[in-house]
Order: sequence, then C-alpha cells, then structure tokens
Amino acid sequence: MIMPGNPVWLAAARDRKQDSLDKIVIKGGMPLSGEVQISGAKNSALPLLFATLLAEGQSTICNVPDLRDINTAVKLLCELGADASRVEGCVRVDAHRIESIEASYDLVKTMRASVLVLGPLLARFGHARVSLPGGCAIGARPIDQHLKGFEALGAEITLDHGYVEARADKLVGAKINFDMPTVGGTENLLMAAALAEGETVLENAAREPEIVQLSEALNSMGARIEGAGTAVIHIQGVERLQPLSCDVISDRIEAGTFMVAAAVTGGNVLIRGAVRAHQEALISKLVEAGVSIEEEDDGLRVIGPQTLRAVDIRTSVFPGFPTDMQAQFMALMTRAEGSSRISETVFENRFMHVCELQRMGAEILIDGNSAVIRGVEQMTGAPVMATDLRASASLILAGLAAENTTEVSRIYHLDRGYEKIEKKLAALGANIWREQES
Ligand code: UD1
Repeated sequence: MIMPGNPVWLAAARDRKQDSLDKIVIKGGMPLSGEVQISGAKNSALPLLFATLLAEGQSTICNVPDLRDINTAVKLLCELGADASRVEGCVRVDAHRIESIEASYDLVKTMRASVLVLGPLLARFGHARVSLPGGCAIGARPIDQHLKGFEALGAEITLDHGYVEARADKLVGAKINFDMPTVGGTENLLMAAALAEGETVLENAAREPEIVQLSEALNSMGARIEGAGTAVIHIQGVERLQPLSCDVISDRIEAGTFMVAAAVTGGNVLIRGAVRAHQEALISKLVEAGVSIEEEDDGLRVIGPQTLRAVDIRTSVFPGFPTDMQAQFMALMTRAEGSSRISETVFENRFMHVCELQRMGAEILIDGNSAVIRGVEQMTGAPVMATDLRASASLILAGLAAENTTEVSRIYHLDRGYEKIEKKLAALGANIWREQES
C-alpha cells in the first residue's frame, strides 16, 4: 500500500496535477546554439527496472531520467511489494519480498511497458497476471508474440476479464521465432529465458541498443546471453540471478529530437551523450537534407543549413529509421525545399500529429501509410494539441521554427518521455516556457 506523503505517492500526485494544467508556449524563430546533455533512455530504464524483479536483494540503477513513465514503473514495483524509491538520479529496488504478481489495468493503461513484468514474475514465481494493454493512440499493439514465447517455454496462458495470466511449474528453454522483431517481446523473453532450464534461442529478435543494454545487464546479474544486437540470441538458463547495478545508456530518441531541433532552427548545437552508432539512419537522412553533423569527444555537433532539402524516409526496426523519430522528422520536412514522402511501416496509426501540423500551415497529404509533405517557407504559430509522446515533440519542433506563438496543450504525453525539455531548449536560446492552462 502506497501512503500519502510517500515519494511515489507524491510523484503520482504531481503527474495527476500536470495532466490537467500544463501547456508549453513557444515564440519561434530563434536559432538554437550551445550544448545540451542528453538524459538516460526511458526505453532502456524501464526493462532494467523490471529486470530487478528477477533477483532477491537490492538493485541500483543510475542515470535514470526523471519522467512520468519511470514514476509509473516505480509505482508498479511498489504495488508488487518491492521496496523501490528514487535517490537523486538512481532508483533502488529491493525485490526480496514480492507480495503480488499482478499489474492492474490502472497502471497498464497509462504505460504499456508494464507488460514487461510478465517475463520476470513468471520466471521467478511461476505465475504472473497483467492487464491486457489494448489499443493506444498509435495503433493496436498486440502482445501475441510475448505470449507465444512464454507458451514455447512451457507456460500456460489464459485470458480472463481483460487480464492475461501466465503459469508454469518451471520454464524450459525452447526455440522461438518471432513473426516480427518486437522490442518488448524480445525483452520479455530475454528475462523469462534467463531463469529457464536449458537453452533458449530467440530468432528474428529485435536489435535495438536497449536490447543490448538489457542483455549486458542480465549477464552482469549472472545470466548467460550471447548474440544480443543480432537477430539470433542464445540464452543458457541459470538457477538464480544476483541484484543489478548499472547505468542507463543515453536516450537516442531524445538525442535525435535535439538533433532535429538544431537542424530545423538553422542552429549549431553540441548534443552531449549522443552516440553515433545509435543514430546512423537518422544521421544519413539529416545529411541528405543538408544538415552538417560532426562527431566530437562526447557527442555530436549538429549545424542546420540555410535551406533544407526534402528527403524521403521509411520507418523500420533498428538499424533502420526509428518510428519514434518519424513525427519529429516530419516537422523538419515541413520546412524543406520540395516534396518528401514519409512512410510508417511499424505502427498503423502514427500520423496523429499531421492535423496539428496542418493547423500551423504545413502542407501534408496522407496516402495510406505514407504522408507526402510539401515544404512551406514559413509555418505560423497556433494553439495545438499533443496526441502522443513523439507527436508532442514534433509540435514543439514545429513551434521552434514557426512565426509567432505556438501553444502545445495536453503535454502530459511529453512528460512521459522527455526530461525538462523546455528548460533544455531554453538554455539553447529558445523562447519557450511551461504555463498553467487558464
Ligand atoms: C518499443 C518502444 C517504442 C517504439 C517501439 C518500436 C519501449 C518501452 N517502447 O515498443 O517506443 O516505438 O518499440 O521501436 O521500448 N507487435 C505485434 N505483436 C507483439 C508485439 C509487437 O504485432 O506481440 C507489433 C506491434 O504492433 C508493432 C511492431 O510489432 O507494429 C513493433 O512493436 P514492438 O517492437 O513490440 O514495440 P514495443 O516494444 O511496444
């Protein structure tokens, strides 16, 4: 039970307050300049936090960003009975005493990544119950591949009253061929197979840097995983794992968002913590668009051109162009000379930002899973509404480059995934601030 006054309760109360009250105001037109430090990756921190459930004892994860999704994950760990709290940039989790094996609808509906408790709970306790996430703003997003994997390891899966329940006396290694490379599915199966008996082989696995970090973290706990970062991962199950101690890698999507911010404003920004190997697809498209990118000791310097060129992109799994950068890249292309085509192949409903960009003067036509963007000379500020996390970032980028004032409301989406974005942009010279909705 989380009592009022407890830090987890206070963070949740702050999140609820922001839900209704905050908006971001931008007066566009300032080229960004200076340096920005990228935070730890949300999408790496979440599976690492849930991986702590695999071991008895106290784990410590550092460089954890201060985000709404992280607060939700900490809350979920507490509800399961773990003793989890944030101490400055770190989260300490003592998962010695777990009292519940259930992730409720209330938590899963606010953060789909809650389904990542299935693998660790099933592996350690032989039983897990998690609300089915259902659809979300960017598409249907089923978890059938996670469940197919658990079944292959010997779990019995039942669906009941909107919950999925997994049970197994013991998990036994198996060969699992995913229908598509799924990030969450690969992570869930890595965690379950780490404690299964014998060898598990994951084929057609996702190759994202977050998968590599999770595998390295599990290996540091005593797991035996080889091949992470390739399409085939071998896991030799072990009997038990030690608590985890690690630092979260830097957020490649936050870094990419700042790269586009520098480019769209014609700025010159050193993005500290940006890792070239995590950004190859984005870098190659930015360079094609006329942006200059130089590698420096601890990051990437991005210099925006006078005139941007239109380029086409097609989202795909890593190392392809990330779907999580599609909306931001579209904001960039609204200002480019010529027409570009952006095709979304990962999620079926990820063009919610288009209508809002159109309100700011963008010329965009949707054609099936593609958007055709004809660059305009100047976008104009307008009140717009954030619809999901990356769409929110795209509206802020458009606002930075637009004439006059843009007001982005419903920014609780933004607070799920960007740490102090308005403060970081303001430090680079942007005219941007957070306000309470009147
Ligand atoms: C993760 C990221 C998200 C990113 C996405 C794709 C986290 C917390 N979230 O989400 O930011 O946009 O990767 O890079 O890391 N699919 C199925 N069945 C399944 C699983 C997935 O059909 O069982 C489909 C999905 O609907 C989607 C595609 O596979 O079309 C990829 O999804 P997946 O990689 O699993 O995304 P997430 O792990 O949910």
